[in-house]
Amino acid sequence: MLKVDGGVPLSGTVRVRGAKNLVPKAMVAALLGSGPSVLRGVPAIRDVEVVTGLLNLHGVQITQQPDGDLPDGQLTLDPAKVELARVSDIDAHAGSSRIPILFCGPLLHRLGEAFIPDLGGCRIGDRPINFHLDVLRAFGAQVDKTAGGIRLSAPQRLRGTKVELPYPSVGATEQVLLTATLSEGVTELKGAATEPEIMDLIAVLQKMGAIITVDTDRVIRIEGVDRLDGYVHRALPDRIEAASWASAALATKGSIMVEGARQQDMITYLNTFRKCGGRFEVTETGIEFSHPGTALTSLVLETDVHPGYMTDWQQPLVVALTQAEGLSIVHETVYENRFGFTDALIRMGATIQVYRECLGGTPCRFGRRNFRHSAVVAGPAKLRGTDFTVPDLRGGFSHVIAALAAEGTSRVEGIGIINRGYENFMDKLAGLGARFEIA
Ligand code: EPU
Repeated sequence: MLKVDGGVPLSGTVRVRGAKNLVPKAMVAALLGSGPSVLRGVPAIRDVEVVTGLLNLHGVQITQQPDGDLPDGQLTLDPAKVELARVSDIDAHAGSSRIPILFCGPLLHRLGEAFIPDLGGCRIGDRPINFHLDVLRAFGAQVDKTAGGIRLSAPQRLRGTKVELPYPSVGATEQVLLTATLSEGVTELKGAATEPEIMDLIAVLQKMGAIITVDTDRVIRIEGVDRLDGYVHRALPDRIEAASWASAALATKGSIMVEGARQQDMITYLNTFRKCGGRFEVTETGIEFSHPGTALTSLVLETDVHPGYMTDWQQPLVVALTQAEGLSIVHETVYENRFGFTDALIRMGATIQVYRECLGGTPCRFGRRNFRHSAVVAGPAKLRGTDFTVPDLRGGFSHVIAALAAEGTSRVEGIGIINRGYENFMDKLAGLGARFEIA
C-alpha cells in the first residue's frame, strides 16, 4: 500500500527512455534475424521483463549490458537457437501482457508453428484480437483456438497478401509488418496505423533488410525478402510517459523537465497542453513543462489514432482538467471503456459526468452502442485525498497524480501495475518532491 500526502507541486527533472509501446515489439523483431540484434534505450519496466521471459522460453539468448542492471538499457538478443517453447511454460506467462500475439508471424516463419496464451493487458475495453487472427489467416496460417490459448501453424511458407484493417489498429499493423517481411511476395496493407512507434518498428525492420514503403493514405507496402539480419537500434523515447509527467506538472501546479522527450512525436499533445494554459520549453535535452501560475483553461478534446490526440494521453490530462476553469469535454474514440478511472476522481471531489453519446463533434464507432465514452469535466474542483485501488496502467498513474494534487492523505492499493510502463516510478516521484511512504 502507498500512502500519499498531497498538496505539493511536483518539480524537478525526470528522464524518459525507450517507448514501452516500441521496445517489446523491437525485441520480438529480433526473432526474425539470422544474427544477433542490439537494442538501446531499453527501460526497466515489467513489460520488458515479460517479453524477455517469453523470448528466453523460445530459445533467444538475451544479455544486458553492463551485466546485471540496465544503466544504459542495452540488450543483445541472439535468436540462433530459436525453438518451440513448452505450452506449460508459456502458460505461466498467460495474462501478463498482450505482446505474445506478436510472436505469431516470426515463430511461424522460424518454426512453422506457434502457441499464444490468453492475453492480458489493461482492462480498458474488450481488446479483442480478431484483426490479428484475420491477418494471420490471410498470410496462410492455420489458426485453432484451444482452451488455454491459440495454436497456429504454417503448413508452407507464408505468402504476401492484401489486407485492409477495419480500424487503424496499432497491434494489427505491427502484426502485418512482422509477418510480411519474410513472407513470399508483396503485402499491401490498407487502413494502417502510423503511430511514431510503428515508424520506429519499420526503421528496425529496414535495418534488418526489409523493404517497406509507407504511403500518405494509411497504405503500407511490404516486399517480402528471404532473409533478415540483426539490427542495432536505439528505441524512440516514450512519448506517453513524457506526456504523463507533463500533465502531472499541470495538475499539481508544478514544473517538470522531461529529459529525452521529443517534440516531433508530441506535437498534438503540446498543442493541447498550450490550449489548456500550460507552458513548455523545448530544449536540446528534452521538454520542460510548467503550470502557468494562473487559472487553466477548459477545452474540448477527442482522442484518435495518430496524428490525433493519443488515447494514452487522455487520463493524466483529465486530472489536470479537473483544475481548469469551466467545462471540458473529452470524447474517447479509441477504447470504449476508458473512463472507469473517473470514479475515484469523483470520490476525490472532481465533478465529472460520463455519457454514452459522442460529445465533442465527431460521431465515432461507439456512438450508437452502450459505451460510456464521453466525459464532461467541470472545474476547478478542490480535490481531497481518498483510498483507491489502481485500475490499470494509465488510470493508475492518473490516480496517483490526483492524490498528489489533492489536499490530505490517500491510500493507494495495487501500485505495482504502474511498473508495467513507468520506469523507476517511485524514485522519480521522490525526486520530484512528492510526499509518500510505502506502508
Ligand atoms: N481492436 C479490435 N480488434 C483487434 C485489435 C484491436 O477491435 O484485433 C480495437 C481495440 O479494441 C481498440 C482499437 O482497435 O478499440 C485500437 O486498438 P489497437 O490495436 O490500436 O491497440 P493495441 O495495439 O492493443 C497499443 C498500445 C496501447 C495503446 C493503443 C492505441 C501497446 C502494447 N499497446 O495497443 O497502449 O493505447 O495501441 O495507441 O503498444 C498503454 O500503453 O497503456 C496502452 C494501452
